Amino acid sequence: MKRWIVANWKMNGDSQMAATLAESVMQEADLAPATVRTVVCPPSVYLPQLIDFAAKTRLECGAQDCHGEESGAFTGNISAVMLADIGAKYVIVGHSERREYHGETDAMVKAKAEAALRHGLTPVICVGEDLQTREAGQAEAVVGKQVEASLPDNPSKAHFLLAYEPVWAIGSGKTPTIDDIHSMHAHIDAVLAEKTADGQEYGVLYGGSVKAANAREILQVPKVDGVLVGGASLKADEFCSILQSAV
Ligand code: PGA
Repeated sequence: MKRWIVANWKMNGDSQMAATLAESVMQEADLAPATVRTVVCPPSVYLPQLIDFAAKTRLECGAQDCHGEESGAFTGNISAVMLADIGAKYVIVGHSERREYHGETDAMVKAKAEAALRHGLTPVICVGEDLQTREAGQAEAVVGKQVEASLPDNPSKAHFLLAYEPVWAIGSGKTPTIDDIHSMHAHIDAVLAEKTADGQEYGVLYGGSVKAANAREILQVPKVDGVLVGGASLKADEFCSILQSAV
């Protein structure tokens, strides 16, 4: 069974830190079983450096966002074509911080995921409910709708990842119970089974306050194919120990 351990560095670090952290992660990635895919998504300015650095290792690199269009007058944006051009393999789309601070809608996220697939990148499509929604007992309904609206129309045979990240669990140290993670992943699995073609390959990750102390338990939940890690991916020891949990 495949496992994806994806690091989201967000807007952190510098070139020195990127090199040091990547060095430790690369060594650990090479020791992991063949079924474990280790992916690091640094700030885009450090991507070429990391791709170059990780070339002869099993560490794969991705970006934290891309634009839905191929090129044009979109100051400050980066397209999926460009990411593919420099050798990136993955791109996170629709992270809740993008949805919240950049007003990204499901339709925009879908366009980004489609752009990623057009250029051979694996999109990591993020969804997740806020606290109010969870407390109102609407989490599964809301996340199900987000999945349906953010998923590419024709995912073709290409591979995609979906990351369930409850907004209230991100960076807060709080996580849903194991039972809640299980039922949400079962729900997402049912929605995806309806939306995808037979034989379509995809993986569903959990994200939100994943750390060395809870990774093993989370990774054992049925239908959890990996984790998306923010804060804990910035500490080499912590992230390497999460990788060791992925067996
Ligand atoms: P966190 O972030 O691990 O710091 O909670 C996860 C994410 O935002 O992807």
